[in-house]
Amino acid sequence: MRTISRGAIILFSIMMLLFDTTHSIVLEPDENHIKSATFLSENFEVGPGKIVVKTLLDIDFPRGHIGVKSFDVEVVDEDGNSIPLYETYLHHWFAVKYIENITMSPYIKQSHDLRNGIEFERNDGACQGFLLPHYWGLGAESRGTSSNLPDPFAVELGNPTKIKHGFKEKWLFSIMVIDTRGTQDRKGCTECRCKLMNLPNDFYNVTTGINGQLLPRSYKGGLFCCQDNVQCKLKNGFRGPTRKLSLRYKIKWVDWDENQVPLKFYILDSTDRVRSNGSTPIHDCQAEYTIPRNHYNDIPHIKKANIPMTKGGYLVYGTAHMHTGVVNVTLYGQDGRVLCTSNPKYGTGKEAGNEKGYLVGMSVCYPKPGSIKIEDGEILTLESVYENKFRTGAMGHFYIYLAEQISI
Ligand SMILES: *[C@@H]1O[C@H](CO)[C@@H](O)[C@H](O)[C@H]1NC(C)=O
Ligand SMILES: *[C@@H]1O[C@H](CO)[C@@H](O)[C@H](O)[C@H]1NC(C)=O
Ligand SMILES: *[C@@H]1O[C@H](CO)[C@@H](O)[C@H](O)[C@H]1NC(C)=O
Ligand SMILES: *[C@@H]1O[C@H](CO)[C@@H](O)[C@H](O)[C@H]1NC(C)=O
Repeated sequence: MRTISRGAIILFSIMMLLFDTTHSIVLEPDENHIKSATFLSENFEVGPGKIVVKTLLDIDFPRGHIGVKSFDVEVVDEDGNSIPLYETYLHHWFAVKYIENITMSPYIKQSHDLRNGIEFERNDGACQGFLLPHYWGLGAESRGTSSNLPDPFAVELGNPTKIKHGFKEKWLFSIMVIDTRGTQDRKGCTECRCKLMNLPNDFYNVTTGINGQLLPRSYKGGLFCCQDNVQCKLKNGFRGPTRKLSLRYKIKWVDWDENQVPLKFYILDSTDRVRSNGSTPIHDCQAEYTIPRNHYNDIPHIKKANIPMTKGGYLVYGTAHMHTGVVNVTLYGQDGRVLCTSNPKYGTGKEAGNEKGYLVGMSVCYPKPGSIKIEDGEILTLESVYENKFRTGAMGHFYIYLAEQISI
């Protein structure tokens, strides 16, 4: 008995030690009372050509009633080195908010069962159901895309008066990474080309898409062909080590007080085919699309959506989540005025954050607060422009933060 409990104690302290080293927190409040912490997610294993699709529950997050100012993410190895995109491609990371029934927490932690005791809380719009629900999230362009919100604006979280009694606010990461070391077709793997993946023979007989219907055989690539643990084709005889990676994420925040102005966060999708039932807009976002090669000319491919904003506000921040090949993406007001254009930055070197040929950043619009107003009910037009090349799993997601007032 004695030895067992001693063993248990030793094991426990090793675990504590592990937690100490993996969940390192650095607090550095500055003169504007902005706090900052860097966290490390639990790790996930990648091997050459492997797709990893995971949900990391209950991630470390600043506690209390706060206003988040920025949220930045990158992929690192066990020694904390930044991993370049041509080794492990970060397809996306989404930070999703949920509330959890406190009495069921031990069960959820143990079972990873997300069907009971959890309610997801999506962002302010505009896709249907639980599509694109995240509050923060980008992909390969993460390292080069600013998430900073200017003062006095912030995303309000953890307001105790708004959290349902008996529940606790929590966060999860939904991630997809693609290890392209040793693959035959790096670009094809990052675009989730179905024919490069070792999918089951009955894949098209059993796999349903966003609309709940079976995927058509014309579906050549995208999210549904990148499933967890699927293998993208390797060069003959290629062998390489597996390794453990994590997300390293840095959050900046302030304690909430009367000096903060809250923001609403909207994700608009250029595949959204908005309908109306007479009174209410009905969104129909596809999240991704295929760009066919047009052999007759070299005109860029344009995907457009007209999206009504039930509630408007002052534009404080705008950027986009796009894939390699994007030319630019613009959000227009109903009268045709440009609200924001986001332009890509492509890498030119070898180092992480500047990988040659990869989309490594999207520019951010910071209009002078008060200068751009979106009216209630205004119909915005989103226009995503890609080069004229065959591409699967292309995305055109525009991110905007709106304030109902511009000063405190
Ligand atoms: C939380 O879960 C328990 C056990 O299932 C249940 O009895 C309780 O009503 C739930 N609490 C709330 C606030 O929904
Ligand atoms: C898939 O469905 C097709 C008909 O649509 C059928 O011919 C084929 O045998 C099925 N394949 C598998 C593996 O079930
Ligand atoms: C349209 O949808 C809204 C929200 O689902 C509903 O409240 C409303 O009754 C619907 N209107 C019609 C005309 O069906
Ligand atoms: C986006 O790119 C296209 C193609 O190069 C160009 O014609 C257009 O002017 C650009 N749009 C903006 C708003 O910069």
